[in-house]
Amino acid sequence: MISRRAAITGFAACAATPVLAQAPLKPREEEALALRAHRKGLVYGAALASRHLQDAVFGEIFAEECGMLVPEWEAKWRTLQPQPGRFDFTAVDRLIDFARRRNLLARGHTLVWHQAMPDWLAEAAVPALAARTLVEHIGPVVARYRGRMHSWDVVNEALEPRDDRADGLRITPWLKAMGPRYLDAAFRAARAADPDAMLVLNEYGLDYARPEDERRRRALVQLLAALRGRGVPVDAVGIQAHLVAGGPLFDARLFRAFLAELADLGLKILITELDVTDRHLPADIGPRDRQAADHVARYVETALDERAVIAVLTWGLADRFSWLNQSEGRRRTDGLKSRGLPLDDDLNRKPIWAALARAFDAAPPR
Ligand code: G3I
Repeated sequence: MISRRAAITGFAACAATPVLAQAPLKPREEEALALRAHRKGLVYGAALASRHLQDAVFGEIFAEECGMLVPEWEAKWRTLQPQPGRFDFTAVDRLIDFARRRNLLARGHTLVWHQAMPDWLAEAAVPALAARTLVEHIGPVVARYRGRMHSWDVVNEALEPRDDRADGLRITPWLKAMGPRYLDAAFRAARAADPDAMLVLNEYGLDYARPEDERRRRALVQLLAALRGRGVPVDAVGIQAHLVAGGPLFDARLFRAFLAELADLGLKILITELDVTDRHLPADIGPRDRQAADHVARYVETALDERAVIAVLTWGLADRFSWLNQSEGRRRTDGLKSRGLPLDDDLNRKPIWAALARAFDAAPPR
């Protein structure tokens, strides 16, 4: 089978105009994920780094398969404000310009996180300065992309039940400096800078029928109810969905009930970082891909049954760019590369792609 990369490269070599302009009408079974999602009032997208756009073929395929992009790492504090008061928007501007040119939506990730913080923040995330420091970051960043961001992950990974607080909040520099109201300040600053962007609280570890995930689910519902009760402008929840195939039990009924709880709070839901750790699966690519795809199918079909779920994004589009291979806890122990995303290294569609396609096709319309 000719790889999609080779097919597109060859086609591009003789095409006077951009590849997709001349691409023949695709039969329904080949329709891209973005189109299938759009047909149901949903969005499919993926994380992208500006360096990935150096591969023009990949850029074409990304723009075909996806309806939305999210900067994988370049919209975080360490990149955007590496020194106090000095902003560097170069990489995010490049990604947002790509989205504009290819008619893609974009979402921002992430304004406040305990990781990817520049060194100087250690002195600024203190009681006397923290509130101003937050506003002086969130304001300029969100205002710059006002009207161009579908949504922002305002606070990422605010929960850590293992920190043993009654409210389940992670003990971060922001929490130490301002208490739980750092969340209020962050969301209010983002709303003030872009009244139209959907504001999201993004979390992980919410997926499986195990005690640690249940503690996170309870803490998240409690936190969201408190924020909404204080009039904090939280519009949606981001569920990262870094799945583990062949690992913990996925209980569809339990997860579906959790999504209904979130929806009952009046919140929209986005699956924000879907991928599959396949370290527990066989080395043989056939069964490995099938088992990973089956896991994705059950998860995404369950999620899309909840109409408050409005988008599914994978944390990358192609295996070659996946963070899973860099993560000590996620990569395979046999040295083989992870295969946790919809496309393989040659940008061919895999069983995970087909599982997502079927899930969008079967989803109730929004
Ligand atoms: O490529 C640059 C290199 O040019 C530069 O010299 C170097 C200097 O630090 O940085 C390199 O960039 C790295 C980047 O990944 C691209 O590989 C950054 O160091 C590294 O910190 C960054 O890691 C990202 C990580 O978040 C921290 O921002 C991962 O790509 C990204 O996949 C990961 O994504 C997180 C989500 O934000 C939150 N949920 C979990 C998810 C996976 O950890």
